Amino acid sequence: MSNSRFDSHNKSLLEATSCLEKKYDEIADALAGPGFIILDGALPDALTQRLIELISGKDGQLKRAGVGRNDDFQLNDTVRGDAIEWLEAGEPAVTEFLSAMDKLRAALNQRLFLGLCDYEAHFARYNPGAFYKKHSDAFRGKPGRKVSSVFYLNADWDFAAGGELVLYDEAGTDELVRVAPECGRLVLFLSEEFPHEVLPASRPRQSIAGWFRVKP
Ligand code: OGA
Ligand code: MN
Repeated sequence: MSNSRFDSHNKSLLEATSCLEKKYDEIADALAGPGFIILDGALPDALTQRLIELISGKDGQLKRAGVGRNDDFQLNDTVRGDAIEWLEAGEPAVTEFLSAMDKLRAALNQRLFLGLCDYEAHFARYNPGAFYKKHSDAFRGKPGRKVSSVFYLNADWDFAAGGELVLYDEAGTDELVRVAPECGRLVLFLSEEFPHEVLPASRPRQSIAGWFRVKP
């Protein structure tokens, strides 16, 4: 590998973490307080662009997501209509994304003693009209997902297109916030405390949804 390529790769790795690094304290305070945070321009534009190219090129490859795991697994159009692909390190943009998230994981552990031990994430694409009905990513007191993340990959999102993420209070009755899936926006929230849903959009809606987990 030529030095220049090595250098530019390392440089973008540094940039990938530095955007978020400046916000570790703010993120930890928000998770300890309201329990969620919305961050714009969370990663460097160049990395966000490469992730957009990557997911846009996967159009036919993503698989319809199911509901439940293993034996319970079922395709269910009435609950969720997204198509997904799990992220695996290898592709440089994916490796950089996962590296930024892993640094965030360590930073949250340092500040909040959450004991997060790993991060799993998938690309998700909702075709026009697709939605994900109100659900929880985790159940209180059960091991598994503790902090949910969604990173949006939609260039020039028009807010009239819909597709918002809606967070509800723990009882699932009161709407707390509506988040448009704007490019470069990262949403983090405590998985056990916020039932949420994805509203249908009039254009394709792309993201990386991920979860920081504790060991069972
Ligand atoms: C999920 C989810 C939210 C979003 O995949 O579990 O809630 O805004 N996604 O895409
Ligand atoms: Mn969810």
